[in-house]
Amino acid sequence: MKVDGTPYRSLWWDADKDALQIIDQRWLPHEFCIEQLDSLESFACAIKDMHVRGAPLIGATAAYGMALAMRLDASEAALDRSWSELNATRPTAINLRWALDRCLDLLLPLPQAQRATAALRLAHEIADEDVEINRRIGQHGLTLIQEIAARKTDASPVRLLTHCNAGWIATVDWGTATSPMYHAHDAGIPLHVWVDETRPRNQGALTSWELGSHGISHSYITDNAGGHLMQHGLVDMVITGTDRTTRRGDVCNKIGTYLKALAAKDNNIPFYVALPSPTIDWSVTDGVSEIPIEDRDAREVSHVQGTGDQGQIASVQVTPKGTGVGNPAFDVTPNRLVTGLITERGICAASEAGLSALFPEKANPQTPGKG
Ligand code: MRU
Repeated sequence: MKVDGTPYRSLWWDADKDALQIIDQRWLPHEFCIEQLDSLESFACAIKDMHVRGAPLIGATAAYGMALAMRLDASEAALDRSWSELNATRPTAINLRWALDRCLDLLLPLPQAQRATAALRLAHEIADEDVEINRRIGQHGLTLIQEIAARKTDASPVRLLTHCNAGWIATVDWGTATSPMYHAHDAGIPLHVWVDETRPRNQGALTSWELGSHGISHSYITDNAGGHLMQHGLVDMVITGTDRTTRRGDVCNKIGTYLKALAAKDNNIPFYVALPSPTIDWSVTDGVSEIPIEDRDAREVSHVQGTGDQGQIASVQVTPKGTGVGNPAFDVTPNRLVTGLITERGICAASEAGLSALFPEKANPQTPGKG
């Protein structure tokens, strides 16, 4: 996607510098900063402290982290250490573990001398695959938006509601939940997107920055506004991303997603989840009891970051000093509340049967894949 007319991916390898370049998302939407990652520590810190964020992007970044680590030391001990250090950064999004395991499976059997080159090639592959997966999710999601537009009997745009940032900067490109929006807008369908603020880190501001850059009409709303908008017929469909989806289609995503799904159900509004297949955790069935939920720093809740009147970035405290704070970062929406999953292979029910039909080789590793 473009930033001020220049096409970007959210990360790219700089061959001259032999290092990864990322967009440092801590400063968006206020400042657009690029950061170079060139040590294992810098990769671990970038993931943990959310310089990069969003499940697919975390996975791709970790793969480049393994590649960088192999350049410095390609021993088996270094392989184990890098895997463990990167895997410990964020516990909920499964793409991290998926990418690290894919690296390990490829690199372990190789002679040490071949590991660095093979790891970098794999990281590029994972990044390119992510772009293609999200492009396809956009094409499938577009059909849902086209159907809504075709059913409309008034002049209103298709009104979508999204939570968190499941946009191009949460992936390598396109985004998951935003990809259908970009495709629909580019196909000339009038859209309006309700963007949940998404406290505590206000990822909605990132989504607003993205949609605004692409010319998509949107409104930034408080996290509590969605139910009211739904009751008044102002939302045609909800689309969110996911950090981990179980084999039966329970969806773990940014805290607050569950409440949106409940409100959507109560108002008979379709609730879709854009799901790249690396975000499916086939080893887990019951999301509520089996997915570890990341507990983040209290300061994310007690403080809010923004810009002052002179444009300087500042962080201000919103709670009384000493107030206790809780900060669970994700929640689980049970499959019964999910209308459907938009994957790169098509749209399916949020159920084991639905996912298995699209990904038979994953559901049952003995079965050949559909490609
Ligand atoms: O804590 P974050 O900002 O990494 O959380 C991101 C989300 O919850 C996204 O909705 C999810 O990763 C899907 S991204 C394509």
